[in-house]
Amino acid sequence: MNTLNNSRRNFMKNVGALALGSTLPFSLVELAFAESDQNFTFAYISDAHLQHIKGTRFVRTWDRGLIRAVAETNLLTPKPDFVIFGGDLAQLGSKAELDHGTEILSALNTKVHHVMGEHDYYLDLGEYWEKLFGPQYYSFDHKGVHFIILNSIRTYDDWTFKRWPTSEQRMLEMAGLDNPNGSPFMVGEEQRKWLKSDLAKINKNTPVVVFSHSPLQKIYKGWNFWTEDAEQIQALLKPFKKVSVIYGHVHQIQYNQIGNISFNSVMATAWPWPYPQSYAQAEQYLPKLTVPMNRADPFFDRDATGWQFINLANGRVDLNYTLYNNANRIVRYNTKKKRPEDSAYQGEDARIPPQTHY
Ligand SMILES: [Fe+2]
Ligand SMILES: [Fe+2]
Repeated sequence: MNTLNNSRRNFMKNVGALALGSTLPFSLVELAFAESDQNFTFAYISDAHLQHIKGTRFVRTWDRGLIRAVAETNLLTPKPDFVIFGGDLAQLGSKAELDHGTEILSALNTKVHHVMGEHDYYLDLGEYWEKLFGPQYYSFDHKGVHFIILNSIRTYDDWTFKRWPTSEQRMLEMAGLDNPNGSPFMVGEEQRKWLKSDLAKINKNTPVVVFSHSPLQKIYKGWNFWTEDAEQIQALLKPFKKVSVIYGHVHQIQYNQIGNISFNSVMATAWPWPYPQSYAQAEQYLPKLTVPMNRADPFFDRDATGWQFINLANGRVDLNYTLYNNANRIVRYNTKKKRPEDSAYQGEDARIPPQTHY
């Protein structure tokens, strides 16, 4: 509290000095709060993919991943200000799966904000999910930071509404990878319009953090590590000084910097995906900045899955990847280089050699 008061006092002193020469817009006063020492943390759990088998039976491994993430989140010190669940709570979007996920997450001792994943959405287009968790996109302010939640996994209306005889088939088609019947994810016009008006109310110096399920950048289309209107979203975020996009869906560590926007992925609690270069000859754009994590050991089913603890230091994200059996990783924003960096493995010579395959 003292530090905060001091920084406000210092800021007001500086404003006073500057004000001698010019008239300051009131909006600059907001900068004092955004730039203060009010660092805080939140936890992020994503991609649980809880899968219903029959009756009260669910795939046990996926259940265990989420249960453990919840238990460890409850033990965090300092306690996070809130928890984000990053989408794909369910595997095939059923009420049974979403109810089961709600029950497991209800053990959290902190407020939860939910992001929509494609596995939650394509059965009933989010109808039941909304009853449980609220709107599919919205924003909120917390300690001088503007947070935005987007549903980034929508697609073309023809594909969604006209192509499939049943909603079950629509769900299965979107759940498939490298599926010629699939369709690219997008935020879509309705939310872009909303986002534009939401951002119009925000001072350009206020840190902005966006939560989406798919990356708001283009990495690999076959697996929808891709958002079709990514450039349009990036253009809306461009005028802001500090922007972070945090996303799930990819089940692996990725980070990137495009202009003023930092990108960080979060891990899955269900299973890890391999990196693009290892699974396809098709065109892929894994960010050069990303140091791939060591690949999963198939003999440990929790390997290379996990959850994360995010420190939002003055509007810049430090992401602590907490991995069950793989090496934990920290990706910090380097203020001098103006990009995120792995705190231990960024240099070529520091990287973990790939596992030997026989
Ligand atoms: Fe997922
Ligand atoms: Fe997903």
